[in-house]
Amino acid sequence: MRTVYWNKDGAVEMIDQTLLPSELKIIKCKRVEEVAEAIKSLRVRGAPAIGVAAAYGIALCAFNYRGEDPEEMKKEIVKCADLLRSTRPTAVNLFHAIDFTLKRALTGDSVEEIKRLALESAEFLANEDIRINRLIGEMGQELLEDGDRVMTHCNAGRLATVDWGTALGIIRSAMERGKNIEVIATETRPLNQGSRLTTWELLEDDIPVTLITDSMSGYVMRRGLVDKIIVGADRIVRDAVFNKIGTYSHAVIAKHHGIPFYVAAPSSTFDLERREEDVVIEERDRRELIYCGDRQIAPLDVNVFNPAFDATPLELISAIICEKGIISPITEERMREVLRK
Ligand code: MRU
Repeated sequence: MRTVYWNKDGAVEMIDQTLLPSELKIIKCKRVEEVAEAIKSLRVRGAPAIGVAAAYGIALCAFNYRGEDPEEMKKEIVKCADLLRSTRPTAVNLFHAIDFTLKRALTGDSVEEIKRLALESAEFLANEDIRINRLIGEMGQELLEDGDRVMTHCNAGRLATVDWGTALGIIRSAMERGKNIEVIATETRPLNQGSRLTTWELLEDDIPVTLITDSMSGYVMRRGLVDKIIVGADRIVRDAVFNKIGTYSHAVIAKHHGIPFYVAAPSSTFDLERREEDVVIEERDRRELIYCGDRQIAPLDVNVFNPAFDATPLELISAIICEKGIISPITEERMREVLRK
């Protein structure tokens, strides 16, 4: 099942990930504002999935246009694209997908052609996402051996993409090849993408998984319980990989223990025109730390710092697996060389 898709009645449908694991519910967005809200509130989340959702958001905007003037329609689509761009700042896939869809839609000469181009572009990105994840999986599974215990952080699985996943896609591909893999999933405070989503989707596929809290990762590595770590990425710049907050700490500990630390990401996650200091890290609402569900777990007036992502310097990463190849050792030149393929 796809995480996000186009409904032929002219709506974007997606799994509402805020309700998992207790409820699997599909929500229907009929207006671009609803898609923007879904991205902002993490109903749909994960770098590739929010990119595709935004591309469908542009198609939705085109299909909702009721006038007959292509120029006026294009102005509305540009406004929708701006709204979608304003939802989350860190994952670059979002901006790549919006730019890709917008550029093609704006080449249309008539209302009907603009609609067709916008939807075709979004469908192309959705199908490409699955094809690319399969390639990442095939290439990355070579790095895994039968019996490996693989730790992952956050959710870089089918829920974070259209299907299959990047980090979890590698584990799925290894298992498809007959390798037995066990996963250790960190809960990923404060929004618990690891405990709510990664464990849920792995159990759906009968992949063995053990849940730990984020602060247990050092202990399990020191105990020799982790053979490899694979995570996804939200943006890969010249000198660092941005991913869910906590990734950096796991990478430092992995380096200390000599455990390979892999990043799996499509080429649309690369942004080699930027360096670490150029990237905006999303800071989320203080309530995410003050409440756990409905229960208050901190004083209401406490100072809160809640960055959603961190940056891991390239020297802590053993390899980046992208659909165009495995990058190791990781240098800016080598990244550029692989991306040119
Ligand atoms: O805030 P989220 O849940 O959107 O963060 C997601 C992550 O950090 C993932 O690891 C990343 O997007 C890669 S998904 C293939």
